[in-house]
Amino acid sequence: MTPPQLTEVEALELLAQHYGLTGQLVVLPGERDRNFQLCLASGERNTFKVVNAEVPLESLKTEIRAMQHLNSILGGLVPNPLADQAGRFISQGSLQNGSTCWLRLQSWRPGIPLAEFQPHTTELFHSVGHLMGQVATSLSTLAVPDPHPDLPWHPDQASQIVEDGLSLVADPLLKNFLEQALRLYDRYGRPLETDLPRSLIQNDANDYNILVHGGLEGPPKLSLIDFGDMVVSWTCAEAAVTLAYALLGQISPWKAVQATLGGFSQTRPLSSKEAEFVWPMALMRLGVSIVMAAKQIQEQPENEYLLISQQPIRELLQHLNALSLEEGIARSRFACGHSSICRKVSLETTLEKQMFFPVMGQALTSDNTLLLPLGIESSTSDWLSGDVEEQSARIQQAIESSHKVFALGLYDEIRLCYTAPEFQQDLESRTVHLGLDVFGRAGTPIFAPFDGTFVTVHDNAQEQDYGPTLMLQHKDLSGESLFTLYGHLDPECLELWLPGDSIQAGTRIARIGASPRNGNWPPHLHLQVISHRLGWETDFPGVALPSEQSFWKEISPNPYRLLGIPEQSWTEPESLPRNLLARRLHILGRNLSLSYKEPLTILRGEGVYLIDALGRRFVDCVNNVAHVGHCHPRVVEAQRKQSSLLNTNTRYLHPELVRYAERLCGLFPDPLNVCFLACTGSEANELALRLAQAHTQAQGMVVVDVGYHGHTKSLIDLSPYKHNGPGGKGAPDWVRTTPMPDTYRGVYRERHPDPGSAYGEKVIEHAESLAKSETGLAGFICESILGCGGQIVLPENYLQTAYAGVRKLGGLCIADEVQVGFGRVGKTFWGFELQGVVPDIVTLGKPIGNGHPLAAVITTTEIAEAFANGMEYFNTFGGNPVSAAVGNAVLDVIEEEDLQKHALTLGNYLLERWKGMSKRCPALGQVRGEGLFLGMEFVADPVQRIPCAARATYAVERMKVQGFLLSTDGPAHNVIKFKPPLVFPESEAERLCNNLEQILKEVPLQLA
Ligand SMILES: Cc1ncc(COP(=O)(O)O)c(C=O)c1O
Repeated sequence: MTPPQLTEVEALELLAQHYGLTGQLVVLPGERDRNFQLCLASGERNTFKVVNAEVPLESLKTEIRAMQHLNSILGGLVPNPLADQAGRFISQGSLQNGSTCWLRLQSWRPGIPLAEFQPHTTELFHSVGHLMGQVATSLSTLAVPDPHPDLPWHPDQASQIVEDGLSLVADPLLKNFLEQALRLYDRYGRPLETDLPRSLIQNDANDYNILVHGGLEGPPKLSLIDFGDMVVSWTCAEAAVTLAYALLGQISPWKAVQATLGGFSQTRPLSSKEAEFVWPMALMRLGVSIVMAAKQIQEQPENEYLLISQQPIRELLQHLNALSLEEGIARSRFACGHSSICRKVSLETTLEKQMFFPVMGQALTSDNTLLLPLGIESSTSDWLSGDVEEQSARIQQAIESSHKVFALGLYDEIRLCYTAPEFQQDLESRTVHLGLDVFGRAGTPIFAPFDGTFVTVHDNAQEQDYGPTLMLQHKDLSGESLFTLYGHLDPECLELWLPGDSIQAGTRIARIGASPRNGNWPPHLHLQVISHRLGWETDFPGVALPSEQSFWKEISPNPYRLLGIPEQSWTEPESLPRNLLARRLHILGRNLSLSYKEPLTILRGEGVYLIDALGRRFVDCVNNVAHVGHCHPRVVEAQRKQSSLLNTNTRYLHPELVRYAERLCGLFPDPLNVCFLACTGSEANELALRLAQAHTQAQGMVVVDVGYHGHTKSLIDLSPYKHNGPGGKGAPDWVRTTPMPDTYRGVYRERHPDPGSAYGEKVIEHAESLAKSETGLAGFICESILGCGGQIVLPENYLQTAYAGVRKLGGLCIADEVQVGFGRVGKTFWGFELQGVVPDIVTLGKPIGNGHPLAAVITTTEIAEAFANGMEYFNTFGGNPVSAAVGNAVLDVIEEEDLQKHALTLGNYLLERWKGMSKRCPALGQVRGEGLFLGMEFVADPVQRIPCAARATYAVERMKVQGFLLSTDGPAHNVIKFKPPLVFPESEAERLCNNLEQILKEVPLQLA
């Protein structure tokens, strides 16, 4: 059925005639109806639908009733039907071509079709499921006859249509899928058909019928617009149709299941039977699409578009091909809040009650078994570092020296040792161990715990895989199947057994294999219990994604009983306390902030990576403290070594301290030759202030707006970022604030002939006024690139002008290098060198100790002398031998790894790429910076340069999902700062840019 043919003029005439309305029309797409958007003079918008007269009036009436019903229950989530002048919701119109048509008007819903909305996140599909659950619940209370009993898209007819259409489909990928899906439906879906509740359903939650709007702040809002395919069918078929479209929605199939059905069952709980029916029915719906398209292609072979429109389905099938369709049933059950497998007797009960033979021939107890923690926080690197021979020797030695026979690797442990590409999936890595590992000598015999039959005898020969593997099928207490899996075996078992061989409990089935034949691990048995094979063949997963931890733990519970282990608690790692956040909020001061809407629990650092409690690896893009990389082995070793020798204060001579001070001062131009060591940037700036005030005998300081110099009382006075921020009390009278030399948004911008000098003059004005005041002028403090100010690079001539003027008035010039020092800015080692000046005092912190609390003040002999007025400078921890050793190691790494040069090349590359992106994305107003100290400024309008914090925060949160940790700064919090460890790899820079490029195209970042 085609939409009626009419012009816009004709449509306007119909509107005037029937509704007494006039306005502007915009043509909208429509398969069955001719649709227009009507913009009224009042600004209000409606949708005007001209419907083919062949559409039965009764079905149109049901549509109207359903929409009114949904509106009365759900409010504005669906359009509201509007009446014509005679009070009718459906009017009959006459067209100029002589035909008649039905006319309908309804309220306008904001948003764009889900198909055009980006990003397609799991949260979005959860919301879609949630909405459709609401719709299903509401429609189920409307008793109407089936408006479209003969619709080809009717769920009742789906399996028949697929079966009948099979012969039309030639493509082997599609055909194979249809055959498999039909088999699955016959086995799991059809038997349930008669048991399921039925009601009116919308039956078409496709990505053009769901509108999305918002999404910049808070989740996007959804509405549903088309009710032309409603039928009376199984209520849960609404979930199946929703799922079928979500599967085509560019997220991975199991994520689509979890998200949509999780959302759906929140608003329309699905019974166990319904949950089981949904998956085969969703496959049938996909099948109907394939068959309908095949019919159309047969009718119009020249229409290339028809083939193209099959592309998303082909892509999905390629994904599904790699998965087992049967697993979908367990996934659906689980997503709906049921146990993934429906068993008569739970696996736990069987393991508890059924007699067994201990798999290692003897029970494992603390007398003969050592625990071998391999989780994130344990010293995995100790046990599994070096090559496999070293690992094996280390573990065997530990077993023997503690007079044990075995070592036990734990169940449900989050491990980082699975590094082969097969363990990477989407953006996650499989880290959750689903079995128990028994480490022991190669050759140790392994016995069957129950009578059973081999179902797989296979060599999973890839690196880090199971190696030779056996799987046995047994019967549980009620006669249902359960399975046990044995991995990393001696290859002799591959000769010994064939699938189908039956054995008795206590039969020796294999021996522990030796490396490298066992998947190249230290010799051990991986033992796993499996409730259902879910269609997997020989490679049943032994390690799961952290996001699927609970699903897989249900399928494979802890097999400790089969080893004769009496205590389950002994075999599982101590889990992280779940209420960390609440405890932290309770016990720590409330003004400690946490990053991200959902805070991360980070347990390890490694170079540029931070690893959380689930083993997820994030690229750290903001921590300039970990200058040479998190936990750099050289720095860790220097610290360990010196800590084991001596740590004391500076009241004794120590070569490490003097060597470090000499080395550090050697990195500065003359006359900066004297060094004081401290523990934090705040201490360094506090000392710098005292030095300046002692030397000048004056108090007053000029500071740059939005600057931050530390958390002590006097540094808060020097930090407009704090004293002008929430809870601040403004600047005291001895502090004058000069504007940020910001050429993007400040008073002097990029078109000014010399903005640097102009901003420098501002500093001098404030210095002059201070010099004339009671406090006098002690100096001027400025970060070498403004960090909290939003990564603002000082314009040329700024410090030159300011320093000359301040010095003329008797003040000192302090460069705060706490953020940017030690080669980060690339072109030079220190940030102030970019400006061609030599400060009187330089303060250092953050990167200086790579995370160890170390800081320094470097100044001239003359200033240091003025400070040495008899009062001792004592700092308990400043300059201790461990800190000095760490400081020296950091300098070694910067030199040896040529990190300054890397910062320059990589920084230039990133800036270039980001400049290209900012040209393409008007919301990205400016990108700037030097070396690996960069910023991206987000705006609401590129001409007015109005800051937009929400866009910056949105991009930060989206980049977190992609595995990159960024954060915002600047007075309006609209600047994303990038100041990563300098060891940032080129490959990650590339990945960062590619992800950023995609995110900048997402709908919430587009300017309206
Ligand atoms: C520019 C600048 N100076 C000084 C400090 C204070 O350093 P700390 O936190 O080590 O006391 C900071 C800290 O963020 C800073 O960014």
